[in-house]
Amino acid sequence: MGISDAEIEHRKAFLELTADDEQRIAALNASAKEYAVPVIEAFYDHLLSFAETSRFFSDPAVLDRVKQLQVQYFRRLTQGDYGREYIADRLNVGAIHERVGVHIEHYLGAYSFYLCAVADQVFATEPAGQTSALDTFKSLIKLVFLDIELAVETYFKQRNDELQRTSDDLESLAHLIGHDLPQPIAAARTYAHLLAQRGEEMGDAAMGDLAASLEGALLRTNEMLSALLEYARLGTLSEPAVQVETGAIVAGILRDLGGEISRTGAKITVRDMPTILAPPTQLTHVLQNLLGNAIKFASATPEVEISAADDKSEWIFTVSDNGIGIDESMWDRMFEAFERGPGDAPGHGVGLAISRRAVERIGGRIWAEPRPEGGTRFHFTVPKSIRPR
Ligand code: HEM
Repeated sequence: MGISDAEIEHRKAFLELTADDEQRIAALNASAKEYAVPVIEAFYDHLLSFAETSRFFSDPAVLDRVKQLQVQYFRRLTQGDYGREYIADRLNVGAIHERVGVHIEHYLGAYSFYLCAVADQVFATEPAGQTSALDTFKSLIKLVFLDIELAVETYFKQRNDELQRTSDDLESLAHLIGHDLPQPIAAARTYAHLLAQRGEEMGDAAMGDLAASLEGALLRTNEMLSALLEYARLGTLSEPAVQVETGAIVAGILRDLGGEISRTGAKITVRDMPTILAPPTQLTHVLQNLLGNAIKFASATPEVEISAADDKSEWIFTVSDNGIGIDESMWDRMFEAFERGPGDAPGHGVGLAISRRAVERIGGRIWAEPRPEGGTRFHFTVPKSIRPR
């Protein structure tokens, strides 16, 4: 991980770390050589007195080696040259801590001990409040913050690399689901159809039934693949928040569900829907899933209501239905991927997971509760302080 000279200068400017500061720190070099060893001994006594940090030093050889390297690190602090080489050294030290598994809170927290121990030394030669000691200490704080920035950066870089790898894996999976798998499934459906025709021609009802079941199973597999694809894609979707008319989104969804609505005779009530700041595709996914479920999984004529309430820092959307309700055993797990209700519960177990994923990416929450008159009420929130990703 490299940082350009221009970037280094920019960071120093932000920290107000000037050439004067660098000179003041360099003036400490001779005395720092004196107090390096006692400061470092105290530093490791501190780390050894906590279980979570002492466990790294159970091997005395490691402790010995690290102490020596730490003395070099410490001396480097007052050498007065804080250019590219210094930065590379600090990034490397950060990466080593990340690799061996030192938690970032311990790593950063240890700088406080470091600074206090050095402050004792700097002020020991000049009384506290003396301008030059105070100025020197301020200069050191700026430099140590540069070190801290670099340490944090190595930790983040590692995490970002891991995330990137996961996202690449997901993309390959999405490609497989979206492009490669549908072809053999479509071919198998054609064969099942041909088989059904053959059964009919031969007057073989059992063969016709089997072929029809096979075709139905393949159709469900296809639907499940599409849902999985939607789920995987949402994970990598980065969509800016814009002003969206939620009423228009709901109207569009109800238009798409027109066939289902007239087939079931569903009664849909849409209350006042606001215009809000949100990523439109993700919001549409959530509303589509909730409204679709409410209509599809009804036991009698569906009665569905959608409303939105302004709750100071967030919008709360509610979709309620008079449907079959949700089995008690499912309340904790219903938003997990591939969780379906007991027995023959309808659906493929991805819709609610997609809704949760979309809501969480917006920064909101989603939950459900039984409706006292029967059915279920789903709620989800959209924060007003939305952070576009
Ligand atoms: C101000 C904070 C810290 C600084 C400046 C610092 C500095 C260093 C340096 C310079 C090295 C040698 C790196 C190399 O091999 O070149 C090192 C290694 C190491 N540090 Fe730290 N350290 C800090 C905090 C901590 C903390 C809190 C722990 C927690 C236990 C820790 C554990 C280790 C370990 C285990 C190694 C040896 C890694 C190996 O096996 O090579 N350090 N540290």
